[in-house]
Amino acid sequence: MKTLKQSVLEAREKKVAIGHFNISNLEAFWGIFRAAQSLDVPVIIGVSEGERDFVGVKQAVALVKSIREEYDYPIYLNADHTYSFERVKEAIDAGFDSVIIDGAKLSFEENVKLTKQCVEYARSSGREVLVEGELGYIGQSSKILDEIPEGVVLDESSLTDPVKAKEFVELTGVDMLAPAIGNFHGMLRGGVDPKLNIERVKQIADSTSIPLVLHGGSGNSEDDFKQSIANGIAIVHINTEIRVAYKQGLQIGLSENPDEVAPYKFLKQSVKAVRDVVTDKLRFFNNL
Ligand code: G3H
Ligand code: ZN
Repeated sequence: MKTLKQSVLEAREKKVAIGHFNISNLEAFWGIFRAAQSLDVPVIIGVSEGERDFVGVKQAVALVKSIREEYDYPIYLNADHTYSFERVKEAIDAGFDSVIIDGAKLSFEENVKLTKQCVEYARSSGREVLVEGELGYIGQSSKILDEIPEGVVLDESSLTDPVKAKEFVELTGVDMLAPAIGNFHGMLRGGVDPKLNIERVKQIADSTSIPLVLHGGSGNSEDDFKQSIANGIAIVHINTEIRVAYKQGLQIGLSENPDEVAPYKFLKQSVKAVRDVVTDKLRFFNNL
């Protein structure tokens, strides 16, 4: 099986992106895996600090490992948005394929210091663990929004500066970078987010020469995905749309089976709803 690093490099060569989808439970996990499997494309399962507290850090690793063993499938596990060295260390020690150290709210110097510490730990782990850094604030919650999250500014001067990005990558040694390019976590009610700044994606990709990661993919258009992937995005993160699909599936499952008490029966609709959303996204990301 290819390592995550190999899959990311291959995605860049083919000008496609790997889909990264967050889970809070087993149903979403199956929905995501079945969608990827049916299209035969690699996939990344993400768990934020809150999600992995709920799922279990070691249990998330065991789940992904079990699929690799049973299907010899390129499925990977990412410790999404991690805010401290301790939690990065915990994920690396547990067997995650990649970690995101999110120092976007820190000063540039503090962000560099913390990110560098995490890169050094990953390199000393004896395994190939990729480290992603964040530069530029894009909000923190995967939810339905009535307005752009506080602290997120979408004008050009507030997006990630390509020169600073290059400096950040050189100082920290990160494998991948999550920039602010007009994206934000969560999705505006109505499901349509403002357009991404594709020119800035290109400038950052050129200045850093490492794969870029698009966060906050819920609510972005097919055209934005297409253009950002063509210009340097190697991984796209989706969470809010999965949460919405899961909940709608659950509501359907419960209303169709009001007397049913077996969770595996009324939760089937949640698995299906997640699978449908992920299948759609993976088609855009992989040009299928
Ligand atoms: O890391 C998670 C993603 O960036 C999710 O963003 O909820 O807007 O899809 P989203
Ligand atoms: Zn994110």
